[in-house]
Amino acid sequence: MSESKGTYYITTPIYYPSDNLHIGHTYCTVMADAMARFKRALGYDVRFLTGTDEHGQKIQQKAEEAGVTPKQYVDKVVAGIKDLWATMEISYDDFIRTTEERHVKRVQDIFMKMYKKGDIYKGEYEGLYCTPCESFWTESQLVDGKCPDCGRPVEKAKEEAYFFQISKYADRLLKNFKENPQFLEPESRRNEMIAFIEQGLDDLCISRTSFDWGIPVPIDDKHVIYVWLDALSNYITALGYPDDPELYKKYWPGINLVGKEIVRFHSIIWPAMLMSIEEPLPKQVLGHGWLLIDGGKMSKSKGNVVDPVVLIDRYGVDALKYFLLREYTFGQDGVFTNEVLLKRLNYDLANDLGNLVSRTVAMIEKYNGGIVPDAAAAEPVDDELKEIAVNAAANVEKEMDEFKFNMALEAIWVLVRRANKYIDETTPWILAKEEASKPRLDTVLHNLAESIRIISVLISPFMPATAQKIRKQMGLWYADPEWDDAKVFEMMKGEQVKKGDPIFPRLDIDKELEELEALNKPAEEPNIPLALKDEIVYDDFDKLDLRVATILSCEKHPNADKLLVFQVKMGTERRQIVSGVAAYYKPEDLVGKKVVVVANLAPRKLRGVESKGMILFADNVVNGKSRYEYITTVAEDGNPVM
Ligand code: ME8
Ligand code: MG
Repeated sequence: MSESKGTYYITTPIYYPSDNLHIGHTYCTVMADAMARFKRALGYDVRFLTGTDEHGQKIQQKAEEAGVTPKQYVDKVVAGIKDLWATMEISYDDFIRTTEERHVKRVQDIFMKMYKKGDIYKGEYEGLYCTPCESFWTESQLVDGKCPDCGRPVEKAKEEAYFFQISKYADRLLKNFKENPQFLEPESRRNEMIAFIEQGLDDLCISRTSFDWGIPVPIDDKHVIYVWLDALSNYITALGYPDDPELYKKYWPGINLVGKEIVRFHSIIWPAMLMSIEEPLPKQVLGHGWLLIDGGKMSKSKGNVVDPVVLIDRYGVDALKYFLLREYTFGQDGVFTNEVLLKRLNYDLANDLGNLVSRTVAMIEKYNGGIVPDAAAAEPVDDELKEIAVNAAANVEKEMDEFKFNMALEAIWVLVRRANKYIDETTPWILAKEEASKPRLDTVLHNLAESIRIISVLISPFMPATAQKIRKQMGLWYADPEWDDAKVFEMMKGEQVKKGDPIFPRLDIDKELEELEALNKPAEEPNIPLALKDEIVYDDFDKLDLRVATILSCEKHPNADKLLVFQVKMGTERRQIVSGVAAYYKPEDLVGKKVVVVANLAPRKLRGVESKGMILFADNVVNGKSRYEYITTVAEDGNPVM
């Protein structure tokens, strides 16, 4: 390899291991991988970082629902993510997990640097609080004015918190956007960010006390550090900043590739953090668009995700990589459908590339015993092919400079298509009929072999496995692709080719569509019997005298937080019932409701207050956690209303 052209550091977002990743995450990682491989091919000393963002309330909740510890939960998901990247031959140099000791310690160092700088102060966070869920929400997160998690009312509350005085850096942030137009691409995002800063930056709340799955604030361990401060630091903690700065000095600043929804974090908060610790800003923040499904963003919570593993199992890793890089325009959203995918695979890979290789290898075997001949009799039509072939690398370089993966691949496919056309123009099968045209036939076969060799080099950053498969068929199994070899046209003479399996088999699109559709049908919900108390017989049940009652009033029990005291009316009778549902209902919400009462239950005193009968509330047990979510309300005729 030639001398290093310098260093190149590229990162993906560190993904949340709250669930398995979908094709949207794959898209970003595949782009970063292609760029890393491309820069390595050019001779840069590349470092490519990816990883997982493992702290925060969401992960803690997921773990609780699954009945495991947060660490057990993320360990399992992260193992799956690493498997996926291994299957996809993602060439990262480092994978950082925010639960790793190296990261935790360094995030605390960063926090302390900001604190000592005077940029962090202790204040009060004011927000809308859901007590049962112990969560703060913003106005816009509420659903119908209630807690988005449990649907119960929220109230204004304050908690002690640490704040980052980000407004201090507003001017420098603006200056950066204006003076370094390349800092954030695409441009449309830049104006959005400038407008956001100009409208005034609020100090950022960077600690939480309502849950503990996070990195403790070093000086105050009832607080954990805000998950974004923790996460954004990964790009430098992974390089050893601040205590082991060798890699950091070598590779930072680098390029942060992220999805457009987190551009604000990366182009405002992250640079402000770096200003605070007096370190250089990222060279560039690149915001890519979203893959959409049925017009909406794919997301785990919407359940409309495409599983990359399904596509890889059916079509192979390189087919998926090619599709993601070729189909979508960097910075813009794009719609994913199985049909666009299948068409790309058939037209570009099976027809164009696959046919070119298999036809050429077959002809060299048939007409020249499998040995690539020398070019003996040139004609003008050869020059056009050669010119396109040796210039393709420069075109790829130009497009990749601007992250235009689709155009880079298109530049290669100009050559693929030209080579196929060259076969049709030169008609080797006719040349083969006349002994006199053997020199011309040799030239054609030679030029096709050179073109395919060049293609194998050019696609190697994007489809490394396919590049190797092609090189194997072309007799080049012994040498790795070298980028500069794509710029010369004289290397194939005397090589021994050997036909292999088609590199991309043709797909029956209708059949594939049907089968993919069937795979996507949601699995039927399993029918798992609940764990219940001992069975009762009808006679037991018949002992209950169930009556409809109207709640006349409801008050808190004077001596017990968990109890409510109801006055109810059943037919002509009024009575008092005490019930242990204070945590689940507000008294004023219940007045006027009709409920079912076990009317002949023996009276008893609950904390000194008499209770005669029992109101039935439905206990909704989800994942082992019991929540009284539904009150059984009843119509005049005595039937429950759902
Ligand atoms: O935001 N289309 O993690 P995350 C394209 N942990 N790309 C998509 C996508 C889609 N539909 N869905 C996700 C986080 N992505 C934080 C990041 S970084 C310091 C912390 C990609 O698991 C895209 O790159 O929600 C997006 O930015 C990223 O996954 C978000 O992953
Ligand atoms: Mg997200």
